[in-house]
Amino acid sequence: MDPNTILALAKRRGFFFPSFEIYGGMAGMFDYGPLGSSMKNNIEKLWRDHYVLGEGLAEIFSPIISPEEVFIASGHLSEFTDFSVQCTKCNQAYRADNLLEDVVDNPDSMSKEELHSAMTEHNIRCPSCKGELSEPESVNLMFKTMVGPLGGRDGYMRPETAQAMFFNFHLLYRFFREKLPFGIVQLGKGFRNEISPRQGITRLREFNMMEAEIFFDPDNKKWPGFEEVSSRKLRLLPDGAEEGEMSLEDAVGQGIIANEPLAYFMHVTRDILISAGLDEDKLRFRQHLKTEMAHYAADCWDCEALTGYGWLELVGIADRGCFDLQSHIDHSDAELTAFLRYPESKEVETTSVVPNLSALGPLFKGRAGVIADKLGNLSGEDIVRGVPVDVDVDGEIISIPPECFEVTTEKKTISGERIVPHVIEPSYGLDRILYTILDHNYHEVDDYVTLRLPITIAPVKFGVFPLMAKDGLDDTALSIDKKLRKKGILTYFDSSGTIGRRYARMDEAGTPFCITVDYESKEDGCVTVRDRDTKDQKRIKIDDVAGVAASLDDGSITFDKIG
Ligand code: ATP
Ligand code: GLY
Repeated sequence: MDPNTILALAKRRGFFFPSFEIYGGMAGMFDYGPLGSSMKNNIEKLWRDHYVLGEGLAEIFSPIISPEEVFIASGHLSEFTDFSVQCTKCNQAYRADNLLEDVVDNPDSMSKEELHSAMTEHNIRCPSCKGELSEPESVNLMFKTMVGPLGGRDGYMRPETAQAMFFNFHLLYRFFREKLPFGIVQLGKGFRNEISPRQGITRLREFNMMEAEIFFDPDNKKWPGFEEVSSRKLRLLPDGAEEGEMSLEDAVGQGIIANEPLAYFMHVTRDILISAGLDEDKLRFRQHLKTEMAHYAADCWDCEALTGYGWLELVGIADRGCFDLQSHIDHSDAELTAFLRYPESKEVETTSVVPNLSALGPLFKGRAGVIADKLGNLSGEDIVRGVPVDVDVDGEIISIPPECFEVTTEKKTISGERIVPHVIEPSYGLDRILYTILDHNYHEVDDYVTLRLPITIAPVKFGVFPLMAKDGLDDTALSIDKKLRKKGILTYFDSSGTIGRRYARMDEAGTPFCITVDYESKEDGCVTVRDRDTKDQKRIKIDDVAGVAASLDDGSITFDKIG
């Protein structure tokens, strides 16, 4: 669908619109209006229903601003960059790869030098004034801030919600009774100072993410629910191979998808997006090229949807290996590991180095204590009996004679080992999903617009109208409206204008059903329930209407079964 049509509808009906318009606007910032906010809540609910209720993952909620140390460890401070070029005439900035999108294949996987030579070769100039462009320059996409107004600490607005699920691993692991696998989710804002925000809500500077981190043992890449769904098919576009449908079982078996948890959550992603009303024929999973992968990823599949903007990434599903947990272990004192208990305890022989302080003291005086600690940290395997050993004390290598330590061997019973778990991360962009739902469900016939949203996603579930705002019809309609709201069903009460216009407004807002109280209602105690997609109407008893509405809302009956 033409993006301008969707953007116009979104603004007209109050789904979303550019922020701060009365002050000239601000690129990459959008407001959700009443319909958009409700739709956003419904998408989040659908997502939670799958991940939290369905898959048993647990939700956390953490601060948006994070200290610099987090992003030093995560690699975002050094790696989270895009290449920017600027027009030397009008100063407009662009993402270098965007300007090469229709010119070369995969410009987003190119290095700075490759981008520069492709831009020179194809004589790429400023799209708005045709001025000459600067050389590509790497820019970090994080927003920096100061925590504490005076002499405070450097902080950054998080570019992903993920990091809190890593640096809190030890606490979350305890919550799950110290067993793998387990998963955590977080929903919330992500911030990226995009070089050239564009295309409505699909490239924002402040956007909404729904992320999950699934921790598992890398030596056991089985996933509990995998077998049940293994014959299901996904449309895959693997790196270096043709696009086609393949079962999860074959894709994992042939090593196209790296492991079961990754394949399983690709399948979950497909299910959620189909339930949200996306057209399955316009969905595919594209594997990242090796050169395109984020700094933390060992493998990554983007779930892409065909939209008026072309193929658009909605969800990135990455195998982050142990990158993040290991980095936070390296940069902090935290023990972000899991203890894997063996089925049966094992007896192992360990050798350790025991310092001999009475020999070290006279030889090394004040440094004897430090040297003893260093020796104690050595493994017995590092030592050849009778031969001096080197230790590093503040950069100085000191040779320690063999009489200063002893190597002892002992038998120990161990019940398990500590490992750094691996992680699968499905990362959903809510705004792009919301946009695509509108795109895939927009229908227009002779200028009449219907948004065929599933009831789970529709911002308003029922329109409630009195045919006329008088003669008690309005009171009856209001009492029905109140009953539905009491049941948790969001309604829109409208008593003005022709009934045809009221239906049309609801159809354009994606409202699945309308309830109308008319003069006949006084005679037969019934109201009309109208179906958005077929325009069929049925008469339902006023006393039954709240119960029927609740069943339509939760999907336990369909419109053709009522009345
Ligand atoms: P792109 O390549 O389009 O910049 P990305 O690969 O950087 O996206 P991820 O880092 O995988 O995106 O982020 C996870 C999800 O967040 C994406 O699949 C997308 O839906 C969403 N997302 C990322 N950046 C933005 C943005 N600037 N505005 C809106 N949504 C975004
Ligand atoms: N958490 C996924 C990403 O931001 O890239």
